[in-house]
Amino acid sequence: MSETFDVIVIGSGPGGYVCAIRAAQLGMKVACVEKRETLGGTCLNVGCIPSKALLQSSENFHETTHAWKDHGIMVEGVSLDLARMQARKSEVVGANVKGVEFLFKKNKITWLKGTGRVVAAGRVAVDGTEYAAKHIVIATGSESMPLAGVAVDEKRIVTSTGALELDKVPGHLVVIGGGVIGLELGSVWRRLGAQVTVVEFLDRLIPGNDGEVAKQFERVLGRQGMKFRLGTKVTGAVASDTGVTLTVETLKSGKTEELTADVVLLAIGRRAYTEGLGLVEAGVAVDERGRVKTDGHFATNIAGIYAIGDVIAGPMLAHKAEDEGVALAERLAGQAGHVNYGVIPGVIYTAPEVASVGKTEEELKAAGVEYAVGKFPFTANGRARAMGSMDGFVKLLADKKSDKLLGAHILGPDAGTLIAEVALAMEFGASAEDVARTCHAHPSLNEAVKEAALAVGGRPLHI
Ligand code: FAD
Ligand code: NAI
Repeated sequence: MSETFDVIVIGSGPGGYVCAIRAAQLGMKVACVEKRETLGGTCLNVGCIPSKALLQSSENFHETTHAWKDHGIMVEGVSLDLARMQARKSEVVGANVKGVEFLFKKNKITWLKGTGRVVAAGRVAVDGTEYAAKHIVIATGSESMPLAGVAVDEKRIVTSTGALELDKVPGHLVVIGGGVIGLELGSVWRRLGAQVTVVEFLDRLIPGNDGEVAKQFERVLGRQGMKFRLGTKVTGAVASDTGVTLTVETLKSGKTEELTADVVLLAIGRRAYTEGLGLVEAGVAVDERGRVKTDGHFATNIAGIYAIGDVIAGPMLAHKAEDEGVALAERLAGQAGHVNYGVIPGVIYTAPEVASVGKTEEELKAAGVEYAVGKFPFTANGRARAMGSMDGFVKLLADKKSDKLLGAHILGPDAGTLIAEVALAMEFGASAEDVARTCHAHPSLNEAVKEAALAVGGRPLHI
């Protein structure tokens, strides 16, 4: 055995690296295994951070070419330097991953470079060298879900990783999957000039989100020029040097037809990544979807082996993984860390943004909960009008009897920031009345949240 640790974390994504930092803060001797060249996992390297860098750059480009005239700002001769945009994205990623490396040094966490394998409880092999640990944490994340008949080459048929790397704006981008990745990255390339068609199996976008939000979101993206083929499945894709021919089938009619594209983005979900981890040999149980099975406290069926993040059940979100990392480290130190799964915000970083927390109306109906709805449109919010971003609304759901907030669904400018107010309120068990009686600055987008809270009680002021 080459070295002994209190904790070995396998995977340095937001789940793994945060768990490692918190465990080190609590006095444990910690190592983190990462096979990628850089720390930070999917999120920092090929996920959250590069996608948000491109979303920002492409939105800046779009605003400069489309929106500034309205403000009386006349800009001529605007052109796109995609190579520079991509280089900036890489710089943003580079700075973030260096930041994690710095935090590892600061907290005296050993980075074991290589591929980790669970040998048994207490033993991890990294490219052939064995290390001992009292606790092993599996935080190996997720990978893009494949689709039969659609062979990814990361050039013509790409996953999100390839879609973040394109060196030319495609003439026509076909996105398979009208979920978060498809609509965020579809937006990036649409804003930069691509024609974008989204092929979605279901008859709606962003399943799992509030239906009313999804409908209006579809309309807004449609106005931005995105085309949708809902209720349609892709049955095959053939790539050539010049493009891709897709065969699609409309589910209702059974009619098949061909679509041609310069690039196809496959974004139909992600699945737990456990390849080469040795879970079967170590006896660690997985569920029917290949996710590591855990109890309510991240423990697997093998004592001393735990799992967090995308590799276990729950929403595949960086902040969910982080919170699990912190909670687990605290539990390993004998504390009472926990994650409130009822209050995990989700944000889609398009323009406008979509944000939600808590239950949807559909979920409350299905559970037979009696609830009240309060809605407020951004057209009636002074700040949104000043910004020129009036699409969307705030929708709050509260228990009919107690008035306790049960959920919030926002389509609109900075929805991802606005949702934090409701998440905090829900974490404190607030009622709609509590939010309604809190003084909100004027003019601010948050006033739309306050007005929606007033609307729960049937007394909005500005509509
Ligand atoms: P990961 O971040 O996937 O990290 C796992 C790490 O483990 C990887 O670096 C991998 O190389 C390593 N690893 C795996 N197996 C081994 C092994 N055997 N040995 C050594 N190392 C190993 N979420 C958000 O909340 N907000 C967003 O804006 C957002 N945007 C996204 C955009 C895209 C394009 C994608 C793909 C995802 C996005 N996500 C976003 C989801 C987010 O990236 C994940 O939820 C998050 O990264 C999960 O963290 P994790 O620590 O569980 O795993
Ligand atoms: P997703 O689950 O959000 O969406 C996948 C979509 O593909 C769904 O609408 C589904 O109905 C559709 N679909 C499934 N099979 C299909 C088929 N055969 N043909 C056509 N459509 C099909 O998954 P996505 O977009 O790949 O994202 C993966 C994960 O990454 C998500 O769970 C998300 O949480 C995370 N993520 C989060 C982001 C954020 O928080 N802003 C950004 C990007 C990803």
